[in-house]
Amino acid sequence: MRKPIIAGNWKMNLSLEHGFGLASEIKWMVSDEVSSPIEIILIPPFTHLAGIQSLLKGSVVKLGAQNCHHEKSGAYTGEISAEILKSVGVTYVLVGHSERRIYQNESNALLAKKIDRVLENGLKPIYCFGETLEQREAGNEFEINLMQIQEGLFHLTNLQIQNVILAYEPVWAIGTGQTATAQQCQAMHKFVRNALSDKYGEEISNSISILYGGSMKPNNANELLSCEDIDGGLIGGASLESRAFLEIIKTIG
Ligand code: PGA
Repeated sequence: MRKPIIAGNWKMNLSLEHGFGLASEIKWMVSDEVSSPIEIILIPPFTHLAGIQSLLKGSVVKLGAQNCHHEKSGAYTGEISAEILKSVGVTYVLVGHSERRIYQNESNALLAKKIDRVLENGLKPIYCFGETLEQREAGNEFEINLMQIQEGLFHLTNLQIQNVILAYEPVWAIGTGQTATAQQCQAMHKFVRNALSDKYGEEISNSISILYGGSMKPNNANELLSCEDIDGGLIGGASLESRAFLEIIKTIG
């Protein structure tokens, strides 16, 4: 059985003070209201990680980072390595969020290197993939997503792939209020699970979590999260408000 995962990606939002406030509200709400085994992850800006890590001590809530550099260390001013993230207590790292693919021109080949850095430090990558509206309208969404997964992940061994979490995030649904329908999501998640099965075998494929992200809110979470192959959510906007985030968590817990 795959443990459900709900991750909140804060993106470039919240001052340190507001970030600490939100993290501590979530920590206490989770301890009061959530008893089932769900992996809950907060993904704040880099500057907040160490402080939030201290604040989360003793909580089941885990910490993730929004990105890392593809090299191990060195003269890369302004960048953060997977090793540094590990040293502040991060467990998960987002790799290939569409906002980075688009605004930072991150390619699948570059993302494959980031995946390697994350894994070699014993951290878990959350690998994001998804098609744009134009790609979907042209009927290319399956092909595009398959390519993102093949080029980003299929160099991994059977052992390594089991430490990867995938997140399907159709670009047209992120921050737009336009959610993919549960049927569209389930079809894509099933397709990806089949591709993982062809490459790594059914048992491994069935053990890998595939999250959905893109305008998931308390009012649509239940429909999405009850699909067979949707194992959790990567939440942007609704993760900035503790009650909304908790309501999404409680949909599966
Ligand atoms: P959204 O963002 O929930 O605001 O659409 C999701 C994401 O980008 O991870």
